[in-house]
Amino acid sequence: MELSKQELEYPQKLLNYMDGFLISKTMFTACELGVFDLLENGEALSSKAVAERLGTSADGMDRLLTACVGLQLLQVKGHQGKVLYSNTDLSQIYLTKASPRTLYYSMAYYSQTIYHCFAFLNDAVRSEEEMLKFMQLMNSIWNICGKAVVMAFDLSIFTNIIDLGGCTGAIAKECNSAYPQSKVTIYDLPKVLEMTRKHFVPPDERRIAFHEGDFFKDPIPDADLYILARIIHDWTEDKCLKLLSRVNKACKPGSGVLLIEALLNEDRSGPVTAQLYSLNMLVQTEGKERMASEYISLLESAGFKDVQVQRTGKIYDVILGRK
Ligand SMILES: C[S@@+](CC[C@H](N)C(=O)[O-])C[C@H]1O[C@@H](n2cnc3c(N)ncnc32)[C@H](O)[C@@H]1O
Repeated sequence: MELSKQELEYPQKLLNYMDGFLISKTMFTACELGVFDLLENGEALSSKAVAERLGTSADGMDRLLTACVGLQLLQVKGHQGKVLYSNTDLSQIYLTKASPRTLYYSMAYYSQTIYHCFAFLNDAVRSEEEMLKFMQLMNSIWNICGKAVVMAFDLSIFTNIIDLGGCTGAIAKECNSAYPQSKVTIYDLPKVLEMTRKHFVPPDERRIAFHEGDFFKDPIPDADLYILARIIHDWTEDKCLKLLSRVNKACKPGSGVLLIEALLNEDRSGPVTAQLYSLNMLVQTEGKERMASEYISLLESAGFKDVQVQRTGKIYDVILGRK
């Protein structure tokens, strides 16, 4: 497409796009500070009066109201030497909270949530790179805690092990070296396993098997031990129960489930690492870190018995249940 001479000299469209977020944020701010609600009964007020009533700076409010006039969200009229602001029909109908046709709550959600998410749009678009960074994060802690968690119980009686949500294969590799007689399979989402094959488990280390699937929906293959490392902490009680019940269903009598998690003390006094991780779960997932008693109760509700807890002295501890 050829650009017109005018567009070449003055790319108005791009300038409009560039200002797009300034416009949205101005409208959101006026909504959230309560400008349109204050003026909803047809009152016309000076910027000083609006600032006083809403508890803002006079200068900041004056500039905000002026910009709203430019955006046709407010109208202005002179009265006895004063400039008075009132709602336009558009803001009265759509931006006041009490209006039956209000869009106020969409504006608030855009302002308080979507606006912040869009700050990370670059990272989201570069998602393969981001995913790799996350997987490297997941992988690295097992350099210092991996051996302790797979050795916390003697798992040599289990010869067919599946690591559900096994991600980079770090735990699977630890199992391979601690229990060389056992076959270990990593079960994870197809996209994750594609990255695992590409970046973490080279072809000459392919003693490890792969199984692609969604553990909430797809069949869970036969095994005599299912490992779930840092999986349960991602989910709500309901989803944990759903997943553990599916695992229990896949188990034969005597089969085991091994949870690897950062455990909170029963009196919630620590450890501080688990307390901080729980906050991290709050911002990143649906889940939380839990106490050993909470994991025991989840496992028992899903049908497991003989549940034992083993502390490792490292960040992550281990809970073993049997069917
Ligand atoms: C917090 S990471 C833990 C990874 C690994 N177990 C570890 O401790 O290093 C959660 C893992 O669960 C996987 N996962 C999440 N939802 C899943 C699903 N529905 N089915 C299979 N895997 C899933 C993710 O892809 C990710 O690899």
